[in-house]
Amino acid sequence: MNVFDAIASRRAIRSYLDKPIPKEILDKLLTAMRLAPSGNNKQPCRYVVIQDEKIKSELVTKACHQEFIAQAPVVIAVCCPPGNDINAAITVDHLTLQATEEGLGTCWIRWFEKDIAAQVLGLPEGMEVAVIVPVGYAAEQPEPTERLELAELIHYDRW
Ligand SMILES: Cc1cc2nc3c(=O)[nH]c(=O)nc-3n(C[C@H](O)[C@H](O)[C@H](O)COP(=O)(O)O)c2cc1C
Repeated sequence: MNVFDAIASRRAIRSYLDKPIPKEILDKLLTAMRLAPSGNNKQPCRYVVIQDEKIKSELVTKACHQEFIAQAPVVIAVCCPPGNDINAAITVDHLTLQATEEGLGTCWIRWFEKDIAAQVLGLPEGMEVAVIVPVGYAAEQPEPTERLELAELIHYDRW
């Protein structure tokens, strides 16, 4: 799959099969995240890879309130010091696109209670959870979502 195909075919997946992710594929996803650029190459993001059912369930029940997340065999919390959302976002995009290439589904999760998520995952002082991403084999094939036309988005040279 080339990059454009991964970009065009990625969907938010909210239903997952009960099927584990092979370790070498998970390692590749984590490497794709590691290779993401960051401002001044400061690399402020850290990843909590949650596979333990008890911790996953506690995170979802207490902090996320979106039950489908717990179906995914792996949930990755991208963490960083406050003010690094843009670095976290590019890391998550690398993850979601590499996952697409590997035939895996993902969903960005930003709607969660940050303090509770940090507590459940045992984050140190000065770190917060920026984005939570369930990763697993999709049990659904959502239709493409709508996007604005290029003509509605672009201003050439000046607005
Ligand atoms: C910053 C951001 C936050 C999001 N937060 C959530 C979320 O908390 N829960 C959820 O189910 N989907 C969430 N999504 C997924 C979006 O709803 C989804 O990407 C959007 O509807 C477009 O659909 P598509 O990804 O299938 O193209 C989020 C996406 C982004 C980029």
